[in-house]
Order: sequence, then structure tokens, then C-alpha cells
Amino acid sequence: MTTQISSLEEYQQLYKESTSDPEGFWGKQANTFTWFSPFDKVCEWNFEEPRVKWFLNGKTNITYNCLDRHIATKGDQTAILWEPNDPNAAVQTYTYKELLAAVNKCANALKEMGIGKGDRVIFYMPMTPELAIGTLACARIGAIHSVVFAGFSAKALADRVNDATAKMIICSDYNQRGSKNIPVKQVVDDALALGCPSIETVLVHQNTGGDINFNETLDKWWHDVVDAQSDQCEPEQMDSEDMLFILYTSGSTGKPKGVVHTCGGYMVYTCFSFRNVFQYKEGDVYWCTADIGWITGHSYIVYGPLLAGATTMMFEGVPTFPDAGRFWAICEKHKVNQFYTAPTAIRALMAKGDEWPAKYDLSSLKVLGSVGEPINEEAWNWYNEHIGKGNAPIVDTWWQTETGGIMITPLPGVTDTKPTYASYPMPGIQPVLVDKDGNELAGNNVEGLLCIKHPWPSMLRTVYGDHKRCQNVYFSAFKNMYFTGDGARKDEEGRIRVIGRVDDVINVSGHRMGTAEVENAINEHPNVVESAVVGYPHDIKGQGIYAYIISQGKDLDDAFRKEILGVVTEEIGPIAKPDKIQFVSGLPKTRSGKIMRRILRKIASNDTSNLGDVSTLLNPDIVEEIMEGAKG
Ligand code: WT7
Repeated sequence: MTTQISSLEEYQQLYKESTSDPEGFWGKQANTFTWFSPFDKVCEWNFEEPRVKWFLNGKTNITYNCLDRHIATKGDQTAILWEPNDPNAAVQTYTYKELLAAVNKCANALKEMGIGKGDRVIFYMPMTPELAIGTLACARIGAIHSVVFAGFSAKALADRVNDATAKMIICSDYNQRGSKNIPVKQVVDDALALGCPSIETVLVHQNTGGDINFNETLDKWWHDVVDAQSDQCEPEQMDSEDMLFILYTSGSTGKPKGVVHTCGGYMVYTCFSFRNVFQYKEGDVYWCTADIGWITGHSYIVYGPLLAGATTMMFEGVPTFPDAGRFWAICEKHKVNQFYTAPTAIRALMAKGDEWPAKYDLSSLKVLGSVGEPINEEAWNWYNEHIGKGNAPIVDTWWQTETGGIMITPLPGVTDTKPTYASYPMPGIQPVLVDKDGNELAGNNVEGLLCIKHPWPSMLRTVYGDHKRCQNVYFSAFKNMYFTGDGARKDEEGRIRVIGRVDDVINVSGHRMGTAEVENAINEHPNVVESAVVGYPHDIKGQGIYAYIISQGKDLDDAFRKEILGVVTEEIGPIAKPDKIQFVSGLPKTRSGKIMRRILRKIASNDTSNLGDVSTLLNPDIVEEIMEGAKG
């Protein structure tokens, strides 16, 4: 097993070692895994191109290390504990032995249906065990999984299927989410109707048993093709740098990027970070509330915990069903030891009142995690007092889809915690703050742009099908550094606080949204001439979506607003719906025609005391009009 740090001295010692001799440090961690043939070099890199390789020429399979490796010592231990949406429905468990058998059956079925190494498989499924089993089955045979969050629209799903030229979609019939019954397979059918020529098979898991439209040529039932397979399947020999998965995420320009992660480095880093950040101990029950549709679910529901031989819980439902005590009821029911969630969920549950957590015995909790967005002090304190009862350190974990694993975080019982501070870099991670010209801001008590200097094993390797974009977005802003897109500050003692995005990306309930993407969606409405989208502070969501819209030939009423929300829901999904829409007659533009988003952000945030000089605008009068309109 990878090192588990247990004291401050050890952290400091390891951190020093990991930066003075990264290859020695990571080589040691990597050698704790099973390799079918050993790597001959730890790291080779060049941020110019970029070209990053870890554990060169090593051959392994991540599922061997997640599953087979544990069978001898913990075959009968629970690997996945599944809590269904309905609190009265039966919990499901998979021991390591059972999970391996289930993965192998699914892997054999995929092979039988013509899926092989390097083929892309899209998942569009709720949080059922089959989602974890299916992705692991892909990894078993070297197919590349790409999970699309099941809240995305048919259009967004089709875009991702086509970008990945996937051969197969794996989905469910329906998804029972809270009191809603969502027709998942129908969305897949709608996506196919938009045109997904690469799709050869749709594999449907029967989840609720509701009626679906079954297409005899494309569709196959999971139970028909998977259940009868052999439970033995040799793991494919994967090169360390072979692709493991693609995960789409939004950026500051148009269409989402397919972030590519590879087998070896991702395996080493997710296991190492999981064991340290959550201080997982034998027998603990670990619960991350994220959806596997996001990177948090990939790294810290599936891969990290299984690599570490942990018991990882998957929850199908939502925090407020059947009531606002559900999370705490589950913590009590399963005696959860490590609990990992997002600030937006904490704020939403905090707003429901202290009486909800007070009803439950939360004494099993040892570590509380936060991820996805900055956590404000009020939410941090509430989490600490009402959930952790002051006894469970909060790990405010900063990372990104692109980083693959947690980068900056306190380590429970090892380093200190401070509200709103992600605090300290993980061993092997070298964060730096730079000014806009790329000059490193040395010392403490500074504020700047957050970059990472040296590669780490789980960093993205490319953007699927567009390496140039990978270079442009992450490696061209500053020479020899990975640019995160975030602004950050360091306190007097060097703890890091991540403030938020400095690009045109907004963070809504921990979900990353490109403003251009939302604008493109809004502009699909035939009566919209132009739009500009910005984020603004939102009590629960962290940031809300504010849309300024120029339109023609329509009454500016609620019916029109509804139509716009409908278009966004259709183009992206309900998570991208603007919280506020303001109709305007113009947008503030520079003489070169660029929208001055800075001004729009200030107006949306109701912070117009210092708008700066607007006289250089092409149309300075519009600012006054927009400010007036914002009041109404
Ligand atoms: C962006 C990445 C990493 C999993 C979930 C989000 C913001 C993430 C924190 C934190 C402040 C945070 C950043 C980052 N972010 N964690 N602890 N404190 N900000 O992944 O969708 O790739 O978004 O989320 O702005 O760049 P993602």
C-alpha cells in the first residue's frame, strides 16, 4: 500500500523528499502496486508540448489493483455498499469477491458485443452499482469509459458521444431520484435521434422496470447479456500511459473538453491521496456523496477507495428525500466514518435547520470533507459544530477534473485546519502563485494566479482529439507551468485559500459551467439577438447564473423567460438554467466590440459602487440603463 502519513513531521519530511526527488518518491509509491511488467522510468515531461508520462513502459491493469489484489486478504469484506433512493428499499452490498465477479461478467459481455481495447463507451446512468461495475468492466478490457452525468440533456449527451466517437452507450431504463421518476433511456433515444452514427449498441440496465421503447437492432438488456457470462476475465495488459477514461468538463470557450486520464499515474495518485486525505483505516465506512458523473465520483467513490481496499458507499438519492435529515440518517444507519460532500449541500441543509442533524447519532464520523467550490466560513463552522461536533477535522480539498486527484488540502490529524483554507499541498504537488506576467510571488501573504510547477502522476494528458487546446488552455499562459484558472491567496503562514475562477467559468453548486456555453444555448432561441452570462454570489449555490439578453419581436414577460429556460434545459440540462434573466437593449462593449463582463458581473452582484471608467466604452449610456433594469 502507498504511504499513509501519520504525523506533521512525517508530512514535512515526505513533502521535502517529494519535491527534491519526485522520481524517487513516486517510484516508491508506484512500486506498492502490482505491475505485470515493471516501469523502466518514473517520469518524463515537457510542459511546452505538453508531453507528460509517468511510470514509462510499465504494464498493469487498474482493476487488478482495485479488486484481484485484495481477494486474498479481504475477499469477503464489503467493497461497495449501496444505499437506494427509497430509504425502505433494500441496501445492496458487494464484497470484493462479488464485485470482481460482477466486473468480470460485464467485461466478458462487453467483449462479446465487440468492445475492445481503446474503444469508447459512454455511460448515462444514475448512481446504481452497475455504473461502478460497468466502468470497471471497461477498464478491465482496456475500453475507455466516459461517464456523462445523467442530468445532462439529450443534446449534450449526443455532443459527447460524437466527440468521443463512442461505440456503445450504457444506460438505465429509469432513475428514481427523490420523488421524481426520470426516463433515462428516453433521453438516450432522443440523443440517438439527433444523430450518433458511431453507436452500435445501447446496453440498458433494468433499474425500475418501467416501460421503455426497445429498439431491436440497437438495444440489449443488461440482464440478457451480462448475467450468464463467466465470472473469470483476464485483465488486459495496459500500458501505464494508455487512456483509462475521458471526462467532459466545461471551459471558458464553446464546447466542453474531453479531459483524458491514463492508467498508471491516475492509479498511483488516487490511491495515495485517498489514503492520506481521509486517513482511511481498516474496517471504516467511507461515503462520498458526489455523482460518478463528475471527477469526484471517479476518483473518490470508485478508484481511490477500491485501490485502497476500502468500503465505499454509493447513494442513489438526494439530500432532501424523504426529508432534510437523509444524509444524517444514512451516516447513522451505516456508521459512516469519513463523509465527503460539497459546500452547496452543506449550505442547503444548514438552511433547513439544526434540528435535522440533531436527531441522529453522528458519533462515528472521524473526517469531514468538502469539495467543488470555496466553502464559506459560516458553512464551515456549521459543518464543524453540527456534523463533526468539533471532533472531526474538515478537509477542504481543492482540485479539478484535470488534476485527477486532490491537490491542496489539510490532512486530518496531521496538519491544522482553518476555515475557508484548503491549506497545504499534497506531497509531490508544487503550487505557486504568480502575477499576470507569470512572475512567481514568493513568500506568504500574497494573492495571485494559482499554477502548478512540476507534473504529478494523475494530471490530464490531453484534451481528447484536440491536443492543441490542451496546450492553449493549460500550458500557454505561463511558461513551464500548469495554469489552473483559479485565483488564490496565501496567509501569513503560507496556507492557501482558493478564491475562485479568474476565467469565464462559473461554479454553480460545485458544477463547472462555461459562460460561453450557456450563452450559446440561450442564443438558440429565435428571438434572442445576443446574450451575456455572468456569475453572481448565491446563498446556496455559491454562484448563480445571471443572463443579460437582447431580444427582438417578443414581449419581455415570464412566458418568454420560461421559453429561454426551456432552450437551456434542452441544449445543456436543467443545471445550466439561469437564475436571473434581465432583458436589455444593449451590452456594454469596448471599441473593439468585446463585451465588458467585469461591469456586468458587478451589476449582477449588486456591487456598483466602483464600476471603474466606463467612458471608453462604445456605448457608455447602456451601463446606466442596465443598472436601472437590474433594480426592477
Ligand atoms: C474547480 C474545478 C474537483 C472536484 C469537483 C470540481 C473549484 C474545487 C475547491 C475548493 C475552492 C474549489 C475551483 C476549481 N474548486 N474545489 N476546495 N475550494 N474552489 O471539479 O468541475 O473540475 O471544477 O472547482 O474553481 O478550478 P471541476
